[in-house]
Amino acid sequence: MQIFLDTAEISEIEARAALIDGVTTNPSLIAKSGAGVMERVKEIAKTVSGPVSAEVVATDRDGMLEEGRKLRAIGDNVVVKLPLTAAGLEACRIFHEEGIATNVTLCFSLNQALMAAKAGATFISPFIGRLDDAGGDGVKLLEDIRAVYDQYGFETSILAASLRSLKHVEDAALTGSDAATLPVKIFDQLINHPQTDLGLDAFMADWKATGREGLV
Ligand code: G3P
Repeated sequence: MQIFLDTAEISEIEARAALIDGVTTNPSLIAKSGAGVMERVKEIAKTVSGPVSAEVVATDRDGMLEEGRKLRAIGDNVVVKLPLTAAGLEACRIFHEEGIATNVTLCFSLNQALMAAKAGATFISPFIGRLDDAGGDGVKLLEDIRAVYDQYGFETSILAASLRSLKHVEDAALTGSDAATLPVKIFDQLINHPQTDLGLDAFMADWKATGREGLV
């Protein structure tokens, strides 16, 4: 499963660049960073070699096509992020025919995921946490999308998004999601465990007590 960082903060990306497969952004994250969209996407696309999802802000098909082409011109690793609307899916189909990678976002239902796959989306982003917040079942949605994509042989990658907990990440992996995007807070918890820290402290203390240095 690919692990992406869900942020537009360069310092957060740089500090974790060696351990991530890519980055996802959205208009809210770029707005929060205070940077301009083009400028920030350029910086991110230089910092990581994997996919960098950058979202259009137009809501009509032609506007999305224009903005998407500008974003893609930044680098071959830029993935054009499109909202799951009729206009977004029309733009997705055109980008698919042009060989431009897309991430169809704001997916909350199996039918939406089906339509995105039919439009040739490279990634579909089901919003697990927000679906749970609204009384739905985000993990069940991941399972259902996996089953339908496998049944029909759709090549669209499932990118579990809006993940709020370590359990969500494990569920994304257990349901066979192809990728998951995580805020820094969750990403850092993937690696850290208090027992690891305690165990390492004990190993180091035992080694120091020998008075030996290095691997001797
Ligand atoms: O970038 C899309 C998604 O991961 C947003 O997450 O936490 O705003 O629901 P959240």
